[in-house]
Amino acid sequence: MTTQENKTAKPLVHLGITRPEELSALFADLRGRFDADCACAHDETSWKQFRDAWLGRKSGVLTQVTDNWLKPATLELKRAVGAALNELRAHVESQVEARRLAIESGAEESALLRERIDLSLPGVHRPIGSHHLIRQVFQEIEDIFVSIGFSVVEGPEIETPYYNFEALNIPEFHPVRDDMDTFYLELPKGAKTPLLLRTHTSPMQIRTMEKQKPPVRVIVPGKVYRRDNPDATHSFAFHQIEGLAVDTDITFCDFTGTIEYFVEQFFGPGVKTRFRPSYFPFTEPSVEFDVSCPFCGGTGTAAGGAICSKCKGAAWIELFGAGMVDPAVYGFVNYEAKKVSGFAFGIGIDRLAMLKYGIDDIQVFFQNDVRLLRQFP
Ligand code: FA5
Repeated sequence: MTTQENKTAKPLVHLGITRPEELSALFADLRGRFDADCACAHDETSWKQFRDAWLGRKSGVLTQVTDNWLKPATLELKRAVGAALNELRAHVESQVEARRLAIESGAEESALLRERIDLSLPGVHRPIGSHHLIRQVFQEIEDIFVSIGFSVVEGPEIETPYYNFEALNIPEFHPVRDDMDTFYLELPKGAKTPLLLRTHTSPMQIRTMEKQKPPVRVIVPGKVYRRDNPDATHSFAFHQIEGLAVDTDITFCDFTGTIEYFVEQFFGPGVKTRFRPSYFPFTEPSVEFDVSCPFCGGTGTAAGGAICSKCKGAAWIELFGAGMVDPAVYGFVNYEAKKVSGFAFGIGIDRLAMLKYGIDDIQVFFQNDVRLLRQFP
């Protein structure tokens, strides 16, 4: 029996077809075979095989019909074969494309089904962290100073003795170094300069003035290190904010006004302030700045008549050191000491946070206990 497949491999005359009327049954059979093949193309791979079998240039069924039926056909048959072939070609091409689209959209649909997210499933609970209290206090202080024209700069925690001491008017033999000498880094032999963990944020006064001509108004938040033994108010690593303002006409009144404004914003109205004479090699005059004890209302006496445990009955609590920039410091940064003036301060952030939030041991800031963190979300 001659199959449809091998029928297209033979000229019409071998199939016994000599008259145009005989063509319609032949082409109808071929079309039926095509439709059956088309229905079997379910995915991309089988569709490609199906397409090549019918439209392949070298040996596709339509090429065979052209080569074996059309080209050798008698003049009588040629026109009818051509017309029937054109009709078949149009049907084949449109159906091959329609099948491709159907397979593609079916694949998309099943991919969508596979990837569909089930919104009814319970999610994974990830607790959201919060800023550490020290970072929050930094932020509060930065906001206050930024609101009055200061900008925030940061500097290295590893310093040279020049920036940490000498340029701040603390020469090598100066006794003040005894309180502050710190952790030095072990360096390879021949290193140009010793390196140390900075003992305060004051080196950034120098680095800022080296880079920038007056007017200067900066604050410098950061971590500092000292060889202090840990206790309720001391840690070997703690935090400071340095402040520096230098211009042509800055007076002690600007200094006190700025500090009092800061204290009122930070602690709220009603807290009294005072300056006491002090000494720092890089400020002249130097002061310690105290606030009236916010725990006992500046009376020194706690509720019930006992001595206030926070200020130990003094009614005042020391907040930080400050002063007018010593003219000697300007010499290290090529400022004209006669033309400029300014003030600087260095606030211990940990103790300030303890004071404001009633924390009685500085060590809790470094213990990473979430019970502390949860109290200050
Ligand atoms: C200084 O560090 C100066 N650089 C401050 C300064 C800056 C003065 C600019 C003048 C002009 P002092 O050593 O006092 O100063 O330290 C400043 C603050 O750091 C202290 O008031 C205190 O709050 C805090 N502090 C000092 N040592 C420790 C420590 N071991 N642990 C926690 N806080 C400390």
